[in-house]
Amino acid sequence: MDQLLRSARPAAQVDPRRPSGLGRFGDYGGRFVPESLVPACVEVERAFVEAWTDPLFRGELNHLLAVYVGRPTPLTPAVRLSAELGVNLLLKREDLTHTGSHKINNVLGQALLARRMGKRRLIAETGAGQHGVATATAGALFGMPTTVLMGAKDIERQQLNVFRMKMLGAEVVPVTSGSRTLKDSCSEALRHWVTSVDDTYYCFGSVLGPHPYPWMVRQFQRVIGDEARAQCAADLVAGTPDYVVACVGGGSNAAGTFAGFIDTPARLVGVEAAGGAAISAGTPGVLHGFRSLVLQDQHGQISEAHSIAAGLDYPGVGPEHAYLADSGRATYVTVDDAEVLAATHRLARTEGILCALESAHAVAWVIRAVGDGTVPPGSTVMLTLSGRGDKDMATLMELS
Ligand SMILES: Cc1ncc(COP(=O)(O)O)c(C=O)c1O
Repeated sequence: MDQLLRSARPAAQVDPRRPSGLGRFGDYGGRFVPESLVPACVEVERAFVEAWTDPLFRGELNHLLAVYVGRPTPLTPAVRLSAELGVNLLLKREDLTHTGSHKINNVLGQALLARRMGKRRLIAETGAGQHGVATATAGALFGMPTTVLMGAKDIERQQLNVFRMKMLGAEVVPVTSGSRTLKDSCSEALRHWVTSVDDTYYCFGSVLGPHPYPWMVRQFQRVIGDEARAQCAADLVAGTPDYVVACVGGGSNAAGTFAGFIDTPARLVGVEAAGGAAISAGTPGVLHGFRSLVLQDQHGQISEAHSIAAGLDYPGVGPEHAYLADSGRATYVTVDDAEVLAATHRLARTEGILCALESAHAVAWVIRAVGDGTVPPGSTVMLTLSGRGDKDMATLMELS
């Protein structure tokens, strides 16, 4: 896998900034939904295209990102960990946003869009609960009733976030089918949307789902990469880092981060959970309305993902990542739960930052890659720290 990293092609060959046709990123993406949902997806696409070019919409979103979310988030030099590792590690601090993860960037964009479309209700799926909390927050902010579908297993391990959603006035509906995790809550949310499409907006939490969601969610998340690019240009002599690293569940924080660096020479590295590695171990298939790389058996039955991080416990990945992997522009690697736990502790002890278990995947890879020489000494590494670890304290207490 590290071999792959060294053979990543230079930046200029790929420009996936906008998908073609029906939301295609190469062979991936598209819109594989029941007929009853096609008009709803078309309506969302039209509304997004219009809104994204409307200075009033962009102005309102940017204002909210500044005064409500707390953007721009800082780029923090990880001074002590950098000294230990012998590289220059910079952390893009999405953990410092209101609600504690990058999910809020996308949700505020979609909630503004829903309001502009005249929708009255929001529904969302959630895994780690961060997207559910962000959607419940937007529901409260805009006075829109919100329903969050969440796997029963995730409800057990992310109780703090379940309570937060309820405090914010959202209804949390447990999903007891299948693996009782993110995959099943996505399926249930799509079913729910079919029956309520007239007045309800489905707020997808990652670069997943039918077109235009993977593209739209990346556009809402590209604020991470655009800010980080400008911060690197101001702070680094070379202007851009050697490596840009982010964890990948569905892939939204990574897609938003990579978007800011796609036309630079920086090597883009997405880090998957070993037990949910759709790019590293998946094959092409259709899941939740889009074609991508998916963990499945030879009969096309979706396999169950397993990760200590609920937000990475998903057997598919956003179509843009499958395309970036095929094209060689980005490289995808995996780390296991033990490496993640060690990285969580090491970041806490060296930097005073308790990050989310999802984000710790990116940290774990950097630690390993420096150790085995994949990342040479003296390199500059820009890493998106997608969220804070409060939600994971119960899991960490149990494990220690
Ligand atoms: C903190 C955090 N990081 C990362 C993720 C993974 O999502 P994505 O790959 O869409 O960024 C999640 C998902 O819940 C999350 O809560």
